[in-house]
Order: sequence, then structure tokens, then C-alpha cells
Amino acid sequence: MTTKEKLLELFESNRDVYFSGEDIAHKLSISRTAVWKAVKALQSEGYAIDAVTNKGYCLLAQTDILSVQGIRKYLRSEIIDTEISVMNVTTSTNALVRDKANTRTSEGYIVLVNEQTAGRGRLCRSFFSPKDTGVYMSLLLRPQNYSAKQAVKITTMAAVAMCEAIEAVSDETAKIKWVNDIFVRGKKVCGILTEGSFNLENGLLEYAVLGLGINIYEPKNGFPEEITSIAGSIFQQNQNDVKNRLVSEFLNRFYGYYTAPWQTDYVEHYRNRSFVIGKQVTLKSANESKNAVVTGIDDECHLLVRYPDGTEDCCSSGEISIQL
Ligand code: BTN
Repeated sequence: MTTKEKLLELFESNRDVYFSGEDIAHKLSISRTAVWKAVKALQSEGYAIDAVTNKGYCLLAQTDILSVQGIRKYLRSEIIDTEISVMNVTTSTNALVRDKANTRTSEGYIVLVNEQTAGRGRLCRSFFSPKDTGVYMSLLLRPQNYSAKQAVKITTMAAVAMCEAIEAVSDETAKIKWVNDIFVRGKKVCGILTEGSFNLENGLLEYAVLGLGINIYEPKNGFPEEITSIAGSIFQQNQNDVKNRLVSEFLNRFYGYYTAPWQTDYVEHYRNRSFVIGKQVTLKSANESKNAVVTGIDDECHLLVRYPDGTEDCCSSGEISIQL
């Protein structure tokens, strides 16, 4: 760890607490000049660090900057050692983690960024990922014995975990639009894209990359015109340390479902949060669109629908839009 990272770890675990330069120098076994330089470096990155004569330095609660140290302080002990990488910008965190998956990188590796220049959405669409107002993250998973049919579980567990995380850090209610969109106040605030690689001989998943893009705040220049009617953000105003809290609340919950799915009926949670049951929808797949009524969601989180001619179907992929 660099001096700056060590100082950030101390500050993040003690927000709103003042430490004298001497005390920090002693704790981190560095000189007072090194403390001062590291404080300056963090301030230049946007950290609100108060410096008061005879009191010392203090990281104020208001700072909302994503960091490994900021996330780790909220993680459950079982996942505290997860390999986490935080960067300012990349093309796509899913692309980056896919590359890592093809090396020997272990399950749990996670990359988070403040901006993506080529964020990917479902159905080959792009995902708007502007600077600093969202969190874009991807996790590498190596599930055992997951068939293609079961792979959807990863997305649905993540959807439930993200809804719960949003509710833990805000006063909002989060709902799910099958299969992977999370809505707050009627607007999409989070999209999930799970990509994977299958072993063609046994049909099992070799690895999955679970990607989530979350609109924390309104983008500085608003959402692009083509998505303004759909896209929204969780918060209207700046919050104290919400990015780190949201990510860790999500990870704590997601790993609970993923490592011990038998302990909680996450499918029931998924159903309860789904706002499409009973609605008239248009089902879109790669080559067609069909109208239907959603009759339910089965235990595999597949969508159960009835077409106008009375026939019923069970959909494991595709996308729906709700008819108003
Ligand atoms: C969708 O709504 O279509 C899914 C969007 C998924 C976006 C996330 S952002 C982090 C990760 N990296 C990507 O390139 N895409 C996913």
C-alpha cells in the first residue's frame, strides 16, 4: 500500500475524527512531511479533509468518492479480502473483467469505475456511463455446475441484492422490471448485464461476468434525449459516502444469495419486487415482438406469459416493455 492509501484507510475508518499530523505519522510510520503530502494529494482528488491548527486533519463525512478503502470498511468479514480494483475510467468494466477471466484471476475479483467510455448494455446496446454521477462495476464469478438455464439466477440474485442495497442507503423503494432493470420512482436507475463463457462439452458455465451500472446522481448535463423518459437516478442531491456504502451493501447481500441460495428464498423477493405481473407487455426478442399478459414468474425467474390467442409460454430471455 502507498502512503496515500494507508492514510485513506485510516481516514475512511474514522470519518469526522481529527488526527494530529504527529499521531498519523506515528500510526503509519512515516514523516510528518509525508503525511502533509498525502493529505494534499487526497484533497486534490476531491476528498474534503479539514486541517485545523491544534486539532489536526479530518476526513469530513460529506465526501462521496469511491475507493477500495471506502468499500472495504463496510464489507462483511467473509468477503473482506475480495480483490477490488477502483479506477477512474475504462472502456467497459465487463470487457476488462472478461479479459481477466481468461487469465487465472479468481472468483470475486471486482472492478469499479467512475466513468465508462464504451459501456455495454443488453441486446448489443450501449450503456450511458457518464463521469462521476454513476458507479459502474463488474464481478468475476466462477459458479460450479451452472447450466445456461441457471445462469439467469446470477442476474436475478443481483437484481434483488441491488434493490435491497438501494433501500438500505436511501428512503426509496426499488422495483424490478424483468429481467434485469431496477426502477426507482418509475425510472430505471440500474441495469445489469451478465455475460458468460460456456464449456461446449458439458454445457456448464465456465465463468460469468456480472456487470451493474447504477445512476447514483443525475448526470451533470442530464441524460441523453433518447433515454430521458426512461432513465433516472437514485438521488437528487449529494449524499455522504453513499457510493461506497451502496456497493458494499450490494456485495454483502449478493454474496449471501450466491453462496447460500438455499438460506433465503430470493426468488420470492424477486417476485415481490417485480412490477410486471398482471401487466400487458410487448415481448421483444432478437427477431420479433409479441403482445402478452404476464401471469407470473416461475422458480427459475423465467417470465410466464399468456398470448392473446390463449396460449401460454415461459420466457428465459428477451426484454419486455410495458403497454400503457
Ligand atoms: C442494460 O441495462 O442493458 C444493462 C446495462 C449494464 C451496464 C453495466 S455498467 C458496468 C458493466 N460494464 C459494461 O460495459 N456494462 C455493465
